[in-house]
Amino acid sequence: MMRKNCLQVPAELLNALHKAKHVVVFTGAGVSAESGVSTFRDALTGLWARFDPLQLATPEAFLADPALVWGWYEWRRQLLLKAQPNPAHHAIVKLAQRVPKLTVITQNVDDLHERAGSADVLHLHGSIFNPRCFTCTQPYVLTHAPEMSHEHALAPPICSHCQGMIRPGVVWFGEALPQVALEAAFTAAENCDVLLSVGTSGVVQPAAQIPALALRSGAWVAHINPEAMPCRQSRELSLVGAAGQILPLLLQD
Ligand code: OAD
Repeated sequence: MMRKNCLQVPAELLNALHKAKHVVVFTGAGVSAESGVSTFRDALTGLWARFDPLQLATPEAFLADPALVWGWYEWRRQLLLKAQPNPAHHAIVKLAQRVPKLTVITQNVDDLHERAGSADVLHLHGSIFNPRCFTCTQPYVLTHAPEMSHEHALAPPICSHCQGMIRPGVVWFGEALPQVALEAAFTAAENCDVLLSVGTSGVVQPAAQIPALALRSGAWVAHINPEAMPCRQSRELSLVGAAGQILPLLLQD
């Protein structure tokens, strides 16, 4: 087990990155934290410390109170529209320019990777910017919405095809992940040489299996997180610090 508590990147990880033919960057809410976006499980500041996921992030919750759920996601969508990519998102783009192949897999529903310049991002938990009909799944184009606070309820728009309610395009608890993205993510994890797991608590399945899949296939795995992450294998490292500080250090020659 190896754990580094300083901002020095272990030479074995830098060597592995230099030799790598395929790098996977697997991200969670922490990669967007320095853009001012709340994580879910950080004590006090995390969204699930302040809001009840059972009232906001399940299909049953949406059917029970569509305006509460739609209003909450509209509030988050508007915060995300104002957020900007941070040095972590930008470092991932630069890393992609230095290695033969780089795959970004994210659990985030924001578009900060894309706005920084990452291409073909695999969104395992959907996108807050792609709502669709709850009933017929027809995509819905969002227009300007009133300025929201997290206390505002807002009735969801109505589908022009079937008169169903429009729902956020995110994956809720109890729902299946998008199959194509999930299979592509598993394949990338099984075929990469280095996987960087950035800003995720690693507790939500099935996404949480991804670093373990890479390890099992012989890749190096580095966890980048202000919290020390448990490491159980010789090729597993915990780099303790903020993503926006640590990821740029991986670009050194
Ligand atoms: P969590 O909120 O569970 O974990 C965020 C992680 O980011 C924590 O381990 C923090 O220590 C870490 N972190 C905080 N600031 C950071 C920084 N500046 N740099 C790097 N890391 C930092 O978020 P996720 O693991 O993404 O699902 O949560 C997984 C899923 O649970 C989410 O996609 C969401 C949620 O319920 C759905 O919405 C379906």
